Amino acid sequence: MITIRSEKPEDYQGIERVNDLSFKRKAEGKLVEEIRKLPEFVSGLSIVAEQDEQIVGHILFLPVVIKQKDKTHSTLTLAPMSVLPGYQKKSVGKLMIIYGLQKAKELGYKSAVVLGHPSYYPKFGFEKASKWKIKSPFPAPDEVFMALELEKGSLDSIQGNVIYPPVFDLV
Ligand SMILES: CC(C)(COP(=O)(O)OP(=O)(O)OC[C@H]1O[C@@H](n2cnc3c(N)ncnc32)[C@H](O)[C@@H]1OP(=O)(O)O)[C@@H](O)C(=O)NCCC(=O)NCCS
Repeated sequence: MITIRSEKPEDYQGIERVNDLSFKRKAEGKLVEEIRKLPEFVSGLSIVAEQDEQIVGHILFLPVVIKQKDKTHSTLTLAPMSVLPGYQKKSVGKLMIIYGLQKAKELGYKSAVVLGHPSYYPKFGFEKASKWKIKSPFPAPDEVFMALELEKGSLDSIQGNVIYPPVFDLV
């Protein structure tokens, strides 16, 4: 039985472990720790998958902005996401994304962006961000930077560069 829910302080160690083991390095676990210190961090959008009292997956959505000339628009970035090796390809990731997007909607967020695998995220509704002229600050092929409207039409008149906090330089 897998439970998907928002993180609690007692999960921090388990979350770090899932990040370390799935990415096979320390950077993402450290990134999550640093993100928690940011004022824009929303603990309800740091989501875990738990099985047999063990954290087996983690996903984080962080509010960021799209900068359009002198205006900014809020959105969410999905990053990082990790599932323990051994629990991968069993839809744990999928369940966490669906839960997270629903939670984001409930909290009033209107869109999300992700830098990730172009064959994975479109099944949740993500499309190339270039469709809206929304750009990643990180050099990446066009198809790997994607965006999703949580409310239909919310990105209609929005374009610009997504601004990530400097902690993302850790990865
Ligand atoms: C990326 C990652 C989080 C995905 O988690 P996951 O739980 O394996 O994700 P899912 O099970 O939802 O889907 C993964 C694949 O397994 C497939 N899958 C899902 N359930 C399956 C099942 N029962 N049997 C076989 N395949 C299955 C999915 O179709 C998907 O395939 P696709 O990529 O070809 O579409 C995980 O692989 C991971 O931690 N990787 C290392 C860290 C990383 O790279 N993170 C992403 C960058 S931030």
